[in-house]
Amino acid sequence: MPTVLPEIDTPAAVVDLVRVRANLDRVAAYCREHGLAWRPHAKTHKTPELGAMQMEAGAVGLTVATLREAEVMAPVTRDILLAYPPVGAHKTRRLARLLESGARVSVGLDSEEALRCVAAAATAAGTRPRVLVEVDVGMRRVGLARVEQVLALARRVEDEPAVDLLGIMFYPGHLRDLTGAADPALLQLADCVGELVTALDGAGLPPLVVSGGSTPTLWHSHRVAGLTEIRPGTNLFNDRTSVAVGASEWDECAYTVLATVVSTAVPGQAVIDAGSKALSREEVRGSLDGFGALLDAPEVVVRGLSEEHGILDLTGSGLRPRVGDRVRVVPNHVCVSVNLHERLHVLDGDRPVATWAVAARGR
Ligand SMILES: Cc1ncc(COP(=O)(O)O)c(C=O)c1O
Repeated sequence: MPTVLPEIDTPAAVVDLVRVRANLDRVAAYCREHGLAWRPHAKTHKTPELGAMQMEAGAVGLTVATLREAEVMAPVTRDILLAYPPVGAHKTRRLARLLESGARVSVGLDSEEALRCVAAAATAAGTRPRVLVEVDVGMRRVGLARVEQVLALARRVEDEPAVDLLGIMFYPGHLRDLTGAADPALLQLADCVGELVTALDGAGLPPLVVSGGSTPTLWHSHRVAGLTEIRPGTNLFNDRTSVAVGASEWDECAYTVLATVVSTAVPGQAVIDAGSKALSREEVRGSLDGFGALLDAPEVVVRGLSEEHGILDLTGSGLRPRVGDRVRVVPNHVCVSVNLHERLHVLDGDRPVATWAVAARGR
């Protein structure tokens, strides 16, 4: 096996810029074709350079999950959706500072308590953030599930002088393996969104923005009538899960963990220096096992993990790596792996061209 990227110490997060650009162009073209606004989720990369690339490729703004991400992305775009309810005095103060800095922030929330925090931050900053009422379309995580609850909170937002009602948002995280246009879960999602939009229209609260979208549902977004905006995150890099659910191809995986083989003492396996602290211990929901697979030999799966050890299962492959060889691992869930690394090593083709800090890591 050739030695891969000898200039980079391992374990290391490596980004393939050629594939990133292709992934950006693909989603930008899809959104243009279907008249959808594209607001990618920065939680996947947490890196301002990549946020800037998304904006240059045609994103209308960025989505963030944490105030840290919002603070780090604010210089990249003024237009930020905090897709996470800010609750408590600390978050209120931090949101106020973000608003004072000139960021044009919208916030997704599902409670009067979170609305009060946003209103307090707005009053302190002297600006008017916009609010999206978060609805639950089946994931059962956050969001209001009943139409009358959505209408009631939308009315509260409309009556709140410190903020503007922008519309609704949802995250269809429960939808993974969509089979096609006629998938019952997709039809159900479209019905649910249609019912909400009709109810809001009828109540005199027509949503300007209906924000949804994830990587597994990405290429089906145009089938959800009423949707105006999508927020894919993972799709920037893709991962073993996005391939498993049919949302990307293997050669669209743009992020890998570079690792060195440190032991082949046990027959049938090779041990690499990327364990749970480099790959994360996320499982692929569904049929696949293991914690990642080799980019150049996907049949070789990371079967086991310790903190600093990854066990490659060689039993289904002719690959026989030697101690000192280097491999690139596609993780199961890229967002969690990125968050474990301080920096991304950026390749243009096979050439390292930059090192970018994962600046929005942490809280
Ligand atoms: C609220 C919200 N929006 C968008 C996304 C992006 O989803 P994906 O990573 O599947 O593209 C996430 C991911 O967790 C999310 O929580």
